[in-house]
Amino acid sequence: MLRTHTCGELRIAHVGQSVTLCGWVQRVRNKGGIIWVDLRDRYGLTQLILEDGQVSSELLDKAASLGREFVIQAQGVVSERFSKNDKIPTGDIEIKIQSLEVLNPAKVPPFIIEDETDGGDELRMKYRYLDLRRNVVREKLQLRHRMMQETRRYLDAQQFIEVETPVLIKSTPEGARDFVVPSRVNAGEFYALPQSPQTFKQLLMVSGFDRYFQIVKCFRDEDLRADRQPEFTQIDCEMSFVSQEDILSTFEGLARHLFKNVKGVELKDFPRMTFADAMKYYGNDKPDTRFDMKFVELNQVAQGKGFGIFDSAELIIGINAQGAAEYTRKQLDELTEWVKRPQIGAKGLVYVRYNTDGTLKSTVDKFFNQEDLKAWADAMGAKPGDLMLLLSGDTATVRKQMSELRLKMGEDLGLRDRNIFKPLWVIDFPLLEWDEETKRYHAMHHPFTSPKTEDIPLLDTDPGKVRANAYDMVINGVEVGGGSIRIHDRTTQSLMFKHLGFTPEEAQKQFGFLLEAFEFGAPPHGGIAFGFDRLCAMFGGSDSIRDYIAFPKNNSGRDVMIDSPSTIADEQLKELHIRVNI
Ligand code: AMO
Repeated sequence: MLRTHTCGELRIAHVGQSVTLCGWVQRVRNKGGIIWVDLRDRYGLTQLILEDGQVSSELLDKAASLGREFVIQAQGVVSERFSKNDKIPTGDIEIKIQSLEVLNPAKVPPFIIEDETDGGDELRMKYRYLDLRRNVVREKLQLRHRMMQETRRYLDAQQFIEVETPVLIKSTPEGARDFVVPSRVNAGEFYALPQSPQTFKQLLMVSGFDRYFQIVKCFRDEDLRADRQPEFTQIDCEMSFVSQEDILSTFEGLARHLFKNVKGVELKDFPRMTFADAMKYYGNDKPDTRFDMKFVELNQVAQGKGFGIFDSAELIIGINAQGAAEYTRKQLDELTEWVKRPQIGAKGLVYVRYNTDGTLKSTVDKFFNQEDLKAWADAMGAKPGDLMLLLSGDTATVRKQMSELRLKMGEDLGLRDRNIFKPLWVIDFPLLEWDEETKRYHAMHHPFTSPKTEDIPLLDTDPGKVRANAYDMVINGVEVGGGSIRIHDRTTQSLMFKHLGFTPEEAQKQFGFLLEAFEFGAPPHGGIAFGFDRLCAMFGGSDSIRDYIAFPKNNSGRDVMIDSPSTIADEQLKELHIRVNI
């Protein structure tokens, strides 16, 4: 080893010892006769000191010429500091240097490599390897590492076996576009990168593995957002001979284990909510239940009073923002403008202030008297001092709009505390979802999800009403995982493909291997996959998963550090049988 200790471990007890440290120069302070060098590595920061008279002028010159980020080896004796620094664990000591070796000089870095940096986003992405030297960034990856180890520890103890599945596969329909890879030896044919290992994990159940997991890269060519990357990681799991209940309790267990062992947080209750209720009360299949502000449907009390917009609406929804009656006119105008932005798309906002003197003041006083408004307040459980907000329109649209407004109000009123964790299971998702564009039904989760037995007859009469044995784990409004009990027989799987618009030939061509496997003794099985990056970001208190990925892509799906994607040589294209445009 080139060093005897790391830059994070020396303490007062080491005083008098001769040590050798290696690391990066964070800072050099030269006060003429004395030079201090802050030496940094992954473990911490240690102060080196060189004093005129105690070391040769050659050594002093060498230290003076060190630049930021030089890689050095320094040998010296640990001594007690005169003025201690209680901000760092090594702050009681410093190293009186006796020899110094520059292992590699460094150019001046493009941004300051300290917790507070002057580097912009794009620059730090281009030099991600330098950004990763910063404590705040490295700590995020260390958190990720801990999460990974704890996940393995829990699942291993539960008899799950980690199995790797291939990356060059055939398209799996998870709803996004595939990334494809041309095959050189099979002219004109392509592999697809897995959107998830879904079919493989099911085949492993047919193989009798009983409990499988994998921390695995998945690839989806979809529009990017803060919580989406084109390549991301799942904790992918599957179990045989289980009911939905067994899966929910096993993975509730994983969530509890991670929160306890990584964050020191004991999750309390883990309630269940049906998809139908999530939509009715929160307008969203991943409700943030850290705060209440549930939707109240007001058609009964708000229609028939001559207010045309309400009278013609399919649905009128109100939410009650407790204690917000003090919102100023300006704030309310801003809120109205906010819901009218194209991203939300509401035509307008009706609000009612429940004044502390008990009077009610609304934007629609022309149509509704105090008694009418009191009826709204009663329906919403509003009290003096509260602010009621109402939107109306067709059911799906108004629910979506109100969901956004509810989240904004929660944020504005400080109800979305990052240190509080409210998990829940959303269950009973619809099996199918109508797609206006293609004019047909799509699998809401994926085509291997089983319908609820009692709903199977509805497949022919009212397919949109069929519920699935599917569930999502939602924490603080983030979908951290999703899964289902699978179909495990050929007949039901073929029926499902038929309802998804596949001809028997298409189903055979694309999924013949799975249909056939189901005829060789497939056990009942089900599973789940967690978005690992999302879990890490949530544990780290962030909305963006990018910081928790060592080398992420930017919002256009580019890696600006290695400059990818990039063009390839004509020669390479030819080899891959891809026509070259000249
Ligand atoms: P699903 O498509 O719901 O299910 O994905 C599981 C979880 O993966 C996360 N996730 C993502 N994270 C980051 N970037 C993305 N682009 C991205 N897309 C999804 C989410 C999501 O809950 N095979 C099924 C699982 C199963 O049925 O067992 C599947 O992939 O947190």
